[in-house]
This record gives sequence, structure tokens and C-alpha cells, in this order.
Amino acid sequence: MQKKRHLLITGGAGFIGSHVVRLFVNKYPDYEIINLDKLTYAGNLANLKDIESRPNYRFEKCDICDFDAVCNIFRKYDIDGVIHLAAESHVDRSIKDPFTFAKTNVLGTLSMLQAAKTYWNNDWEGKLFYHISTDEVYGALEFDGSMFTEQTKYNPHSPYSASKASSDHFVRAFHDTYGMPTIVTNCSNNYGPYQFPEKLIPLFINNIRHHKPLPVYGKGENVRDWLFVEDHAKAIDTIFHNGKIAETYNIGGFNEWKNIDLIKVIIKTVDKLLGNPEGTSLDLITYVTDRSGHDLRYAIDATKLKNELGWEPSLQFEEGIEKTVQWYLDNQEWLDNITSGEYEKYYDEMYNQR
Ligand code: NAD
Ligand code: DAU
Repeated sequence: MQKKRHLLITGGAGFIGSHVVRLFVNKYPDYEIINLDKLTYAGNLANLKDIESRPNYRFEKCDICDFDAVCNIFRKYDIDGVIHLAAESHVDRSIKDPFTFAKTNVLGTLSMLQAAKTYWNNDWEGKLFYHISTDEVYGALEFDGSMFTEQTKYNPHSPYSASKASSDHFVRAFHDTYGMPTIVTNCSNNYGPYQFPEKLIPLFINNIRHHKPLPVYGKGENVRDWLFVEDHAKAIDTIFHNGKIAETYNIGGFNEWKNIDLIKVIIKTVDKLLGNPEGTSLDLITYVTDRSGHDLRYAIDATKLKNELGWEPSLQFEEGIEKTVQWYLDNQEWLDNITSGEYEKYYDEMYNQR
């Protein structure tokens, strides 16, 4: 029997957050799950339609940078656990507008930590501040087989990863200075349903659907390690309940793909599911100017998490990618609702600058 928790999940209307909220609402009917989200361009309550009327679910529209408003939410719900996902998450946007990333990711995280510290008032019994971070804080690997471990030194290159690195340092500082029970996890690239279609996989699925060019940055040789989002949510559940205080855990898919090879798999899968002859959409591939400071390769060594807490990815990539493509093809209204209007203008401007 799990102890009743009053759990604040930030960024729950975003991609990964919505999967975490859904998992916790379904799996822990006795917990009160409060989703705190500002609903930026990336936040979408349609991601949570299936659970929005559950008795153990609450939504609070709130900016994590608004310290007083966050304190009120801690008081209102007697919060004892935080899973902090709210962030600006897209590298290309961080290159255009680094201030917004510093504000949300650094100051917003500090505001969350300070609100938790104020409300918990040094009584740390049964409390946890769990911060969700990224493998990008470790910098870039060569094509030499090495991987990021929990001991790898931070070496961020983009304004996004610099802001996430800074937020990770603040979380650890709150443990070391005040004794706050914290955990940090650093995860690799996620894919799956409900991802905002500015990120590689949903963007390319959507562009193929509209016969639009597929902008491959540089030579398409960069490597990413892909994990199905529901596996990330399960890892977060495992770590929230069984992780050791003050520890860092890497989470990854043991699933590295060179971008251009991954893109060919996406094209093949979309063409197959749309009933097009194989290879139909290959000529949409368009090589464009590379992302500035584009990290060459990420690869996560998630052995510690497997050995200590027994988590490992459950879904094979071929199955995950087919499930993902099918989901976007079945949910075209969801895609159309967020890609029309403001976002379409923004995307066309970004594309024309490349
Ligand atoms: P996302 O951009 O899809 O969602 C972010 C959510 O945060 C949105 O709902 C948005 O409205 C909310 N938000 C943004 N600013 C806010 C603010 N000031 N106050 C309150 N809410 C705010 O992001 P995602 O891809 O789901 O990533 C979630 C977290 O996981 C981030 O911290 C990200 O750094 C981390 N992460 C992402 C990946 C990935 O592959 N997507 C991998 C590793 C780690
Ligand atoms: O590694 C974890 C990170 O993964 C998360 O912390 C970030 O929040 C998340 O956005 C993701 O970052 P990436 O920059 O790796 O993801 P993105 O989908 O933007 O790009 C994946 C790769 O594809 C990257 O090498 C850049 C390339 N790319 C991307 C886009 C959008 C293209 O070639 N063309 C594109 O149009």
C-alpha cells in the first residue's frame, strides 16, 4: 500500500509531462496529482483529455517564475513531492532567444526550489524534489564508442543545455546547502505521441504528410539516443518511489541512430502506413545549414539505473517508431490544431532562414 502523496508535477501539459501525469493518475488513484503549467506554446491540455475529469487530478495554470503563486499552490494542496519538468525545451529556440531559457529554466527552477524550501520549512521527512534534466548538459561525444555516465563532467554548448546545467546545479546546491531531499535524472532524446511538432520526429512525420521539405541539418551525421516516452515515464515512476536521495541517474534507450538513418526509417514507416510505394517521400530530404554549435553525438549509459533499480527500456525501437507514426497519422486534428496559426508562421520563418 502506497502512502497518500500530494504530488506537484510541473510542465504536465507538455510532451513528457503529460505522459508522467497520465501514468501517475492511472496508477496511483490515492495520490492527489496537481499539474502546474503555464501553457506556453508547448503546453496543451488536449494532451490530457482522457484523464482530465479524474477525481485525483487537478490543473493549475501558473508560471514557475511567479514565486508567490507557486507558494500558494504548495499551501493549497499541502504538496509533499515535486516532479519538475516545466522548461523551455527546444535547442533551436534557445539559439534565437537565450533570455527566455535562462528565465524559465534557471530562475523558474530556483523559484520552485525556494517555494518548496519555504513550505517544507526544513522538515524534510517524506519530501522529495525530483528534477528532470537532459543528457545535453554533458556536451558532445565523438564517434568513439564512449558514453555519458553519471560521472561525466558537465560541458553544455547550447543556451538550452547551459540553462538546464545551471538548473541541475541549483537543485544539487539545495541538497548540499539546506539538506533538501533531491534527485536529478538526465535523459536522452524522447519520442512518441504528443510531442510538439518542432522536434525532429513529429516534424518530419507532419511534413511528409503535407509533402513539405524535410530539413536535415548539416550532413545528417549527428547521433542521438532515442527512448520511447512511456519508458521515460516508467523510469520516473521507479526513481520517484525507489531512487536514493541526492543521487543522479542517467536514463537512455541504448538506441543510437545517426539522424539521416533515422530519417530514412521515418520516411519508410510513414510511406508504408499511408499506403505509398516504398521510397515515395525520399526526395523530400533537403540538406540545410547546420544548427550552430550542433552537438555531434549523445549516448547515455543507463547501467546504474538498471543495476540499482531494475529499470530498462521495454519497447524495441522498430515497434516504438511504428506506434508513434501511427499515432500522429490517427491524430491529425491534434497536429493541425497546433501547427496552424502562430506556429506555422514561426516555422516558415525559421525554415527560410536556413
Ligand atoms: P515540452 O516543451 O514539450 O513541455 C514543456 C512544458 O513546460 C509545457 O507544457 C510548457 O507549457 C511548460 N512550461 C514552460 N515554461 C513554463 C513556465 N515558466 N511555467 C510553467 N510551465 C512552463 O518539453 P518536454 O520535451 O516534455 O520536456 C520536459 C522536460 O524534460 C524538460 O525539462 C526537458 O528539459 C526535459 N527533457 C526532455 C527530453 C526530450 O527529448 N524531450 C529529454 C530529456 C529531458
Ligand atoms: O537529448 C535530449 C534532448 O533531446 C532534450 O533535452 C531536448 O529537450 C529535446 O528537444 C532533444 O534535443 P535535440 O536537439 O536532440 O532534438 P531535436 O528533435 O531538435 O533534434 C534531433 C536531431 O535532429 C538533432 O541532431 C538536430 C536534428 N534536426 C532537428 C530538426 C528539428 C534536423 O536535422 N532537422 C530538424 O528540422
